[in-house]
Amino acid sequence: MVDINLRNEINKRRTFAIISHPDAGKTTLTEKLLLYAGLLRTAGMVRGRKNTKHASSDWLQMEQDRGISISASAMQFPYKEYLLNVLDTPGHQDFSEDTYRTLTAADAAVMVIDASKGVEEQTKKLFKVCRMRGIPIITFVNKMDLPAKDLFSLLQEIEEVLGIASVPINWPIGSGRDFCGVIDIQTRKCQIFEKTSKLGSKVLDKKEYDFAALDIGPDLRQKAEDELELLEVAGNEYDEERFLAGEVTPVFFGSALINFGVEYFFDNFVKLAPRPRPVRGISADEDSSTLDPYSEDFVGFVFKLQANMNKKHRDSMAFIRVCSGIFSRDEMVVNHTTNSKVRISRSYSLVASNRDTIDNAYPGDIIGVSNQGFAIGDTVSFKGLDFKVQPMPQFPPEIVCEITLNDVMRLKSFEKGMVQLTSEGTVSLLTPKNNPNARWVSAVGKLQFEVLESRLSDEYNVKVEMRMLPYRFGIYVEGDVAKIQLTTTSALAYDKVDRAVLLYTNAWEEQLLRDRNPDVRFVPFIG
Ligand code: G4P
Repeated sequence: MVDINLRNEINKRRTFAIISHPDAGKTTLTEKLLLYAGLLRTAGMVRGRKNTKHASSDWLQMEQDRGISISASAMQFPYKEYLLNVLDTPGHQDFSEDTYRTLTAADAAVMVIDASKGVEEQTKKLFKVCRMRGIPIITFVNKMDLPAKDLFSLLQEIEEVLGIASVPINWPIGSGRDFCGVIDIQTRKCQIFEKTSKLGSKVLDKKEYDFAALDIGPDLRQKAEDELELLEVAGNEYDEERFLAGEVTPVFFGSALINFGVEYFFDNFVKLAPRPRPVRGISADEDSSTLDPYSEDFVGFVFKLQANMNKKHRDSMAFIRVCSGIFSRDEMVVNHTTNSKVRISRSYSLVASNRDTIDNAYPGDIIGVSNQGFAIGDTVSFKGLDFKVQPMPQFPPEIVCEITLNDVMRLKSFEKGMVQLTSEGTVSLLTPKNNPNARWVSAVGKLQFEVLESRLSDEYNVKVEMRMLPYRFGIYVEGDVAKIQLTTTSALAYDKVDRAVLLYTNAWEEQLLRDRNPDVRFVPFIG
């Protein structure tokens, strides 16, 4: 028998990430969600990179300086009768590793697409991770107030580029300056919007109009009728099972900036998005097992670590996604990786950078706890159950630097900073085989090095030099690696758990290395 309280708490939760290519409108859409949830009073109050105000989910100094969202943050707040856990995933291409890990904590994703640009590079990458993890995706086609691409070509692009069937749930009436409402495709009921100011709009009369009886002028009517007819003939059917398997994406249209169709979108999103789902993992008995969120034993996993989030609390936090049971503070927690026990005396739920201490958390929730030796990917429970979540996605190095300390007197702080920042996954630490005293760091994007340099300076008062190395690819090697035959532009290094990583400059070189070393096994990083 499932505890009725636990069942109710699970059923009202929606835990999701918003993904997009930079500039598609993710921050604006998140802000509007906060507005409709009653957390913000005025639209445009916190956003804007040009006017130096910032979206409330941005934390670190560098995020504010650059106006980009670097660290993925999590926020919890009520939205109508639901309780939302929103994972903010950084859109900047260099922050993909953090973003990828954050997606493992989501039950669904909102994919924001710029109507004039279609599916962009970063969306493709993020989408791939959602696909890999079977995360259902709901699409919001944004910026309909600006001239848009042909919408049928856009739907086709989603299908072709991303390989997912698209099913429009609503359809815009007009686009660009003519965009004035959305039609529910099933019911043919419409919501008509009226622009109230540069940044805002309201739903006219809050009424739903019958499309057939709507007075929108002959041109817009004809266009919308033709499009609806085409959708009837050529459109895909919505199928819940396929949606939950990540094979079909429901599509909505709107404009986050002027609030056209945003509330409508979120009202439908909470109904379509799944409640906290069973989590796939590994147990000793079977190769893989699934954890039922309704089971009464608390289990969670660490998907992110972050130090110094707030200058007022100079500490390191571990973000845990609750997978099953009820988490309660002050209990001993077993870390399944190290078998050690720690008492979690402080646990937080997060609304932007404000922390609310919480006593209980339920499946789907993201809690921040003070980090007591956790590593990313650790499974935790009260009972020390035989279960580990699937390993975190790992990405091969795409860029490698040698890092050296300018002032040796700061060695201790440097070591401390490096341990913390590499455990957070900002960059990965590598020790070259030929020079064990050197420190190399690898990442999937250059900006991660800038973050490392700036955080070492700001938070640990350590200045470093970063020297770029030529390696652009990496692969694990196993077997007799001590005898490996290298090329002049490849190198062997060891990661923090002493796994041998072969670094090289291009795909051609990898083939050469494979040919030269037939007895060595090449093991790709898991994606
Ligand atoms: P991101 O988080 O995905 O990177 O995008 P963000 O919301 O920051 O939006 C990027 C730019 O696009 C912003 O303009 C924002 O105002 C604009 N934008 C977002 N949604 C819409 C929309 O529905 N319609 C229109 N017309 N514009 C939209 P900016 O000039 O870069 O910044 P700001 O000065 O407005 O802050």
